[in-house]
Amino acid sequence: MDILQIIASRRAIRRYSQFKVEPEKLYQVLEAARWAPSWKNSQCARVVIVEDTEIKKRIAEALKGNRSYDGALEAPVILVICAEKGLSGYSGSSPVTDKAEWFMFDTGVYAQNLMLAAHQLGLGTVIIGYFDSNLVAREICLPQDYAAVALLLLGYPAEQPRSTPRKPLEATVFLNRFGEPYPL
Ligand SMILES: Cc1cc2nc3c(=O)[nH]c(=O)nc-3n(C[C@H](O)[C@H](O)[C@H](O)COP(=O)(O)O)c2cc1C
Repeated sequence: MDILQIIASRRAIRRYSQFKVEPEKLYQVLEAARWAPSWKNSQCARVVIVEDTEIKKRIAEALKGNRSYDGALEAPVILVICAEKGLSGYSGSSPVTDKAEWFMFDTGVYAQNLMLAAHQLGLGTVIIGYFDSNLVAREICLPQDYAAVALLLLGYPAEQPRSTPRKPLEATVFLNRFGEPYPL
């Protein structure tokens, strides 16, 4: 598959088979994430690979009411995407843009690299933003100067979700001024 096909055919996977993720495939997806761009190449992203059944069960409790709750119980691996705070978007100890922290952006790019590489290898993922991050931080013993940003479930898909719609380009792409159509 070429890169555009990989991007367009990736789907959020919320049901997982019990097949384990081979260590060499896990290594490859982590390696893809490692090459993600970041603010001033400051590389604030960290990932905690959770494979321990008891810790996974307790992390799933942080997902009560989430569409991915069942998937979190099934997936062989839960990746906790974390960020070192006060680094991305900063020059020294001061934020330098009107958006202060940029770690959500850096970890988003990091996660997307990981998800696309996983999809190419036949693995499924879903990124989860709606969870109790304090509970997760406690479970993984996260230091105070880090944020638990997102969870990624990783494993072999037990479903083939239908394609999800996207807005047409003309609704989101403009020429020179916001709202002015770009002739596509
Ligand atoms: C920042 C972010 C947070 C998300 N949080 C959740 C979540 O908490 N639970 C969930 O099931 N899916 C979550 N998703 C997955 C989206 O629902 C999914 O990507 C979207 O519906 C499009 O579907 P697709 O990825 O299959 O194309 C999240 C996606 C993003 C980018």
